[in-house]
Amino acid sequence: MTTIINFAHRGASAVCPENTMAAFRRGLELGATGIETDVQMTSDGALVLIHDEQLNRTTDKTGYIKDTPLKEVLEADAGSWFGTEFTGERVPVLEELLELLQDNSNILNIELKNGMFLYPGMEEKVIAAVREAGMSERVVLSSFNHYSLAYCKSLAPEIRTGILYGEGLYRPWDYAATLQADALHAYHFAVLPEFVAEAAAHGLVYHPFTVNDPERMKYLITSGVSGIITDYPDVLALLLAAEGV
Ligand code: G3P
Ligand code: MG
Repeated sequence: MTTIINFAHRGASAVCPENTMAAFRRGLELGATGIETDVQMTSDGALVLIHDEQLNRTTDKTGYIKDTPLKEVLEADAGSWFGTEFTGERVPVLEELLELLQDNSNILNIELKNGMFLYPGMEEKVIAAVREAGMSERVVLSSFNHYSLAYCKSLAPEIRTGILYGEGLYRPWDYAATLQADALHAYHFAVLPEFVAEAAAHGLVYHPFTVNDPERMKYLITSGVSGIITDYPDVLALLLAAEGV
């Protein structure tokens, strides 16, 4: 049994419309042992799973999520842009994904998309939903907004946090300690084997993103990462099985 978490990035987003229930279900079917998703907040304070700040790219409606009430977000078609067979897929609310994962042991990485807009109250709502679902031990909260991650940790020390970053963060294990973070969600080119070892010595794990090239997957597995975020959980599952990890 592998100990490396196979995170389906926005669900099985290579073969399904990203961040839909179809994508999350398919990810699990394809061998994912974790799901990565993005959360934004509607004008009436609901947590919805969508990558962009706007509805435009991945639904048949337009406008900012922050300016749109939940009822209207739920009326959007989030599937047909990807393929007609997905017509009718909706933008899910966070609780739907928590419900899907209730009866298994998979890990959920909730990425708070509060970089462009701060979404006051988002941290409290996400934490309340995770606690309500009894999933605190199976969730990793991540964000490019590290103020938000520090705040999450102050609200919920029992829930793991992972700092998202790109290239060249100097001694990320030292920086992570200032946030009391648990994981490094690094752009995958920012990961070297010696970094993984140093991070482990500081009690931190690496979950690099977004890794779609099998050769990069192999490199990272050999480097000792604890999880990989990929659009192709099927490819990663085969590699993990072949490597026996
Ligand atoms: O959480 C990893 C990855 O999802 C971060 O980037 O833009 O795909 O949300 P993005
Ligand atoms: Mg994301």
